[in-house]
Amino acid sequence: MAPHPLIEQFTRAGQGQVFAFFDQLAPDAQRRLLAEAAEVDLAEIARLTRTLLAPGAAAGVDLRGLVPAPYEPLPDHGGDAAAWAKARAAGEAALRAGRVAAFTVAGGQGTRLGYEGPKGAFPVTPVRGKPLFQVFAEKIRAAGLRYGRPLHWFVMTSHQNHAATEAFFAEHKFFGLDRAHVHFFRQGRMPAVDFTGRILLESPGALALSPDGHGGSLRALERSGALDLLEREGIDTLSYFQVDNPLVRCIDPAFIGWHVLRASQMSSKMIPKAHAEEKLGHFCLQAGRLVVVEYSDLPLAMQHETLSDGRLRYSAGSIAIHLLDRDFIRQMASGGASLPFHRADKKVPTIDAAGRPVKPASANGVKFELFVFDALPFAKNPLVIETRRADDFSPVKNAEGADSPQTCRDDQLRQFARWLAAHGAAVATDATGRPKAEIEISPLFGYDEESFAEAWKKLSPQPPVSAGLYLAP
Ligand code: UD1
Repeated sequence: MAPHPLIEQFTRAGQGQVFAFFDQLAPDAQRRLLAEAAEVDLAEIARLTRTLLAPGAAAGVDLRGLVPAPYEPLPDHGGDAAAWAKARAAGEAALRAGRVAAFTVAGGQGTRLGYEGPKGAFPVTPVRGKPLFQVFAEKIRAAGLRYGRPLHWFVMTSHQNHAATEAFFAEHKFFGLDRAHVHFFRQGRMPAVDFTGRILLESPGALALSPDGHGGSLRALERSGALDLLEREGIDTLSYFQVDNPLVRCIDPAFIGWHVLRASQMSSKMIPKAHAEEKLGHFCLQAGRLVVVEYSDLPLAMQHETLSDGRLRYSAGSIAIHLLDRDFIRQMASGGASLPFHRADKKVPTIDAAGRPVKPASANGVKFELFVFDALPFAKNPLVIETRRADDFSPVKNAEGADSPQTCRDDQLRQFARWLAAHGAAVATDATGRPKAEIEISPLFGYDEESFAEAWKKLSPQPPVSAGLYLAP
């Protein structure tokens, strides 16, 4: 029998090892392997091997002509208060007109946290232990109620966690959202390769595939029909955030207003870095274009460079919160410009020549990933605004230490305490502002200080701030 045309293609491309065990597989497993192989763009793998793996391939990113990017500072850091107020009003108008949808990237593997199951199912809030997805759902629901237009919410999953994510939402009745407004779609996958570019097998009948990075969201939004849905619904702005950050203002009127008034195709939020080596991307300009340079790509000496007043020169940290214009996504997904792949050397579980599993002790292969912020240099009128860390950013990335469940709980508690204290409640805190009592405010009661203040004012009598206080409508 003649070999399958796909097997021939792989063999011609020097990737015949993918089918080394094909004849020993049951017909079902053969079909599955062929289907996985059909997902692979062999020309793309060959190109990446040439450009990212070949000896002498450009090491690291191009840092020539890099300067810090400008941004819109907050009013208390010298920004124009009237312009911020105007932006807020414009954002509220866009929300009332139903022009905005929320978008969460939740396709990552969450390896650092070591949590089994979709990361969005991880419990994060201090009193109720609400999962990340519930926090976002309630913020999105609250914004919809406030502006009189229920928001659509797009959640990007991966092949590994798609079914579990959908089941989690169903089990929790979509956290009170209209299920017709919640849309899940899977991101694409890329095969891992060895250091010479040969595709690795995870088992005799399966490729070592992994998610193609959050930058894969642009093509996945197009492929899944999400952009068509946005168009039908008259939505032109996607509010993008990561699944790991429960403090995010999923829907932020001032941010939306800046984006709309500047006719920006892609906008981002920055915070001043807490210290030189904080693990954040850096907003920079290169040849006049806005770029993000990852923490791993900016040499330490540059991360430590300071200005004459002692502040960090590269201080604008990216917290992975963006607004994206629908037509810009379409253009990036299907047009000529495409995002570059990044190389990540990883331990990739694979098999040996006899088909036995190998658990590598050190990096044995390379994964290719797309980053969404690489779209910034292609955007018209891109914009960066400042936000307060305490209002927008406390991610859960590691099991312990910095950016862990503990630091995130503490930051939520500080936010609740700040809002309460600013509006007349007696709150005992330690020197860092963390309340002595564990308390929690539901986003449905107040999802930002303004909505909280309105609800709190109406409460009569106002409860004392004591352990276990949970404010909900
Ligand atoms: C990321 C940013 C960094 C930023 C920081 C802020 C990158 C490369 N770096 O770092 O610039 O300062 O967040 O917290 O992104 N995801 C997918 N699919 C994938 C890969 C990731 O949906 O294929 C999602 C994850 O679910 C998560 C997010 O993207 O929500 C971030 O991914 P992660 O790899 O954890 O990024 P960081 O290194 O923490």
